[in-house]
Amino acid sequence: MVVLGIESSCDETAAAVFDSDGLKSNVIASQTVHEQFGGVVPELASRAHHKTISATVQQALDEAGISAGQIDYLGVTQGPGLMGSLLVGLCFAKGLSISHQLPLIGINHMDAHIYSNFIDQQPSYPFVALTVSGGHTRLELVEAPFEHRKLGATRDDAAGEAFDKIGKLLGLSYPAGPEIDQMARRGDPEFHNFPQAMKDKGYEFSFSGLKTSVRYFLEEKGGRDSEFVRDHLSDICASVTHAITEVLVVKLARAVKEYEVNTTVLAGGVAANSMLRDKVETMARREKINIHIPKLAYCTDNAAMIAITAFMKAERGEGDDLSIQPYTRLSEK
Ligand code: KG4
Ligand code: ZN
Repeated sequence: MVVLGIESSCDETAAAVFDSDGLKSNVIASQTVHEQFGGVVPELASRAHHKTISATVQQALDEAGISAGQIDYLGVTQGPGLMGSLLVGLCFAKGLSISHQLPLIGINHMDAHIYSNFIDQQPSYPFVALTVSGGHTRLELVEAPFEHRKLGATRDDAAGEAFDKIGKLLGLSYPAGPEIDQMARRGDPEFHNFPQAMKDKGYEFSFSGLKTSVRYFLEEKGGRDSEFVRDHLSDICASVTHAITEVLVVKLARAVKEYEVNTTVLAGGVAANSMLRDKVETMARREKINIHIPKLAYCTDNAAMIAITAFMKAERGEGDDLSIQPYTRLSEK
């Protein structure tokens, strides 16, 4: 069974081929046009998808050594994401589906982040999944394939959004998560005690207070260009990362204990964060549970995760027809 996956929910145009032997190709065209604006500009994102999608899909087929006629199923991100961006991928997939009579499978981007762990691993059910991306932060109990029980989510900013907004305050370029991660490795996580909101109970998250507290901290120290802030940039990055990751790991550990699972998976762009990966691994050793973390290439947006999720759905006989429409929010699912 050969599956082509297409992803275009935000600012990466991506295509990948997955078959019964594993991943055959994984192509990502990242859009750089947004850097100058400090965030993704939706209209520019859809135009860039439109420009690159055809070549990206062709490259994924070429690298997998197949032609469009050899595809058995077509998986495409249906939502959540930016409406214009989703439409480009979905319309392209519908066209391909019509021209090559391919069954279409609409994929939930957040589920796909979780199932990216199945590209080269086999997590056992039930497991607790922590999905941390630029747009979402969610804890879920996954009882069986595609049977998810939501335990909690963020009430305001997502973890990745917190990294990006705090990076902006620090004068870093968008998206700031990877740079904060790099700098944090050289810094002292206990340099400053930033708030760890809602850590002590439940499964809900809140990161917008942290952003405000960083803003006040910078003002008090003379602004982001002051000598003090420049000298301690790594320490500030480490302390911010510490605050974000502590809350995430404490809540993940709480869910693991309460629901008595022995497996947990991490997913989403922030799962690339080295402090988070270390802390989750330490927690897993302490609690004697299995932990699955995607390879770095499968943490941030990619189409391999769409292809594997479509593959798993196709195996279960699930599919959609040409009437499927994109949705921008998870609640519209
Ligand atoms: O999953 P993703 O690629 O896109 C969404 O679905 O939102 O996540 C992107 C987010 C961005 O906020 C980015 O700053 C963050 O993931 N990110 C990181 C790291 N790499 C990406 N955050 C912290 N540390 C990283 N190494
Ligand atoms: Zn994503």
